Amino acid sequence: MGLHVPGDVTVAILSDVHYAGAAERARGDDYELRAIPNPLLRTFAHVYRHVVWMRHPLDQAPQLDRFLADIGSVDYVVANGDYSCDSGFVGVSDPAAGQSAQECLGKLRAKFGDRVRFAVGDHELGKQALFGSGEMRLASWRTVTETLGLPPFWQLVIGRYTLMGMTSSLVALPVHQPDTSPAEWPEWLRLREAHLAEIRAAFEALPSNQRVILFCHDPTALPFLWREECVRRRLPQIEQTIIGHLHTQLIMWKSRVLSGIPPIRFMGHAVSRMTAALHEAHHWWPFHVRLCPALSGIELLNDGGYFTMQIDPAAGHPAQFTFHPLPR
Ligand SMILES: [Fe+2]
Ligand SMILES: [Fe+2]
Repeated sequence: MGLHVPGDVTVAILSDVHYAGAAERARGDDYELRAIPNPLLRTFAHVYRHVVWMRHPLDQAPQLDRFLADIGSVDYVVANGDYSCDSGFVGVSDPAAGQSAQECLGKLRAKFGDRVRFAVGDHELGKQALFGSGEMRLASWRTVTETLGLPPFWQLVIGRYTLMGMTSSLVALPVHQPDTSPAEWPEWLRLREAHLAEIRAAFEALPSNQRVILFCHDPTALPFLWREECVRRRLPQIEQTIIGHLHTQLIMWKSRVLSGIPPIRFMGHAVSRMTAALHEAHHWWPFHVRLCPALSGIELLNDGGYFTMQIDPAAGHPAQFTFHPLPR
């Protein structure tokens, strides 16, 4: 578990659990492929899913149990988003995905009680699948905030450290507009403004000697945060930004190489969204990003696991991170 200094506070960090309960599992592992109308694309996606990404996407629940059995004594836990498999592509307002998220959060809450914090991921809200349909729905927003009880923004003060969790899909909302319906767009914009107001207020009120650890599921949000003057002014205080969403260091590495590429607009919305994010990726690095991989990693590398972070409440040393591999 790394070198433990007495007085240090230990925070476990996990991300992208993509838990599937019984109703999502019943849809079968090819749920995503069935949603692709074009047979050529379907074959391509099948090979990619089978060899590279995740062969049995609906079978990741045992990995959460493995984590719960493996984890030693920790003071806090932060889960960094994407709790269900979102196999209905509309987020947790789909009853099957909602059940998965409920079970996933329930297991974490049962073990850690009020010591666990949750960031909201893109799959909680829904989005267009890579080559198919799907939508980001306000009904899922209500399920997240009301039924699942996740606050869109939270802070946890540990001495001279402040941990902050935010909702990347709201911060990066302009990128997600094609995933929303025109009827719901004005309300999404209102939610985004309210969220940004909370973030601005938190940074305005931050004492100048306070260190910050940010939790932001999707790094696509970081260039938008960078454009907020009150955040940019505090960048030297942001010691680390923990992201998820990319699932593997392989993609993180690719993002560094491809950082700055022009957005590709002619291959559909999902590709446009991803390349637009890479175009802006040079704004990620001032946030000192650290990727917490998916708990299950990816098929090709079996590189899943979680972090523990040792924090000195007196800020005598920077936060220390230890990665704990959790092979499937
Ligand atoms: Fe994910
Ligand atoms: Fe994600």
